Amino acid sequence: MLLYEKNNHIGVLTINRPEALNAINSELLHRLHDMAKELSADTSLRCLILTGAGKAFVAGADIAEMRNLSKAEAVEFAQLGHGAFEALESLPFPVIAAVNGYALGGGCELSLCADIRIASERARFGQPEVGLGITPGFGGNPRLIRTLNRADAMELVFTGRVINADEALRMGLVSRVVPAERLMDEAMALAGAIAANAPIAVRAAKAALHSRYTRFLRDDLDKESELFGSCFETADQRMAMTAFVEKQPKSEFIGE
Ligand code: CAA
Repeated sequence: MLLYEKNNHIGVLTINRPEALNAINSELLHRLHDMAKELSADTSLRCLILTGAGKAFVAGADIAEMRNLSKAEAVEFAQLGHGAFEALESLPFPVIAAVNGYALGGGCELSLCADIRIASERARFGQPEVGLGITPGFGGNPRLIRTLNRADAMELVFTGRVINADEALRMGLVSRVVPAERLMDEAMALAGAIAANAPIAVRAAKAALHSRYTRFLRDDLDKESELFGSCFETADQRMAMTAFVEKQPKSEFIGE
């Protein structure tokens, strides 16, 4: 589910579940958390690139796994995601997300744990959760509101609209858009520029830049998992997720 390579102080971590567009299930969350702990202890690493295998970066949390969760299980699922994503976000060196395709729901949220996002022109971003009867649950709410301007963050979450790479650039969600075939070369060049600098200074800069960003983040994540859980076992959540899994059209939402 995860591929990892390291060369010249730069790691490349690839989410590798292409048959499900790299959708994140609990097993993958456990592996990501373990991998983040391992990477965190590697003092020779100066930068990490995070990407996805195949046509998606990550198409979200695994809807088939979430479909029948109880409220309490959904809170636990969000907490598992928060733990793994926080471990990645707090790696002591810079992380670049090289977004190669769909970054939806948990995928957009995973990209938000990176310090820098660069997008292939084929990348697509969005938080489609409200169309599945739930809220974003892997930190998308607090991280989007910290990353984008308020109107863009609210619009993305409330509409569930999927945006292309150019719109993501306009919103400041990504810092550059590159041709698909150049994505990994560009990410590697950026990582190389970072890795050529003094490693102690770069790690110190990351800690300084994160200080404000992560202040109160834990409180916001706790609130998010509670609210995420509150959407489960509703008729709307069950209907919308069943429709996705069974490839059927959704019925109208009824607010129950
Ligand atoms: N969960 C589980 N399986 C998924 C998945 C997901 N999020 N996204 C894609 N897949 C699976 C599909 O079920 C399909 O499996 P089968 O081949 O076994 O049928 C396979 O991946 C390929 O997907 P599609 O056939 O749907 O591919 P497509 O190119 O026609 O469409 C897509 C691509 C538009 C991204 C579509 O797959 C899609 O809409 N995916 C769901 C996106 C989404 O809603 N993400 C948010 C999830 S909720 C979340 O993330 C909550 C959270 O914050 C914690």
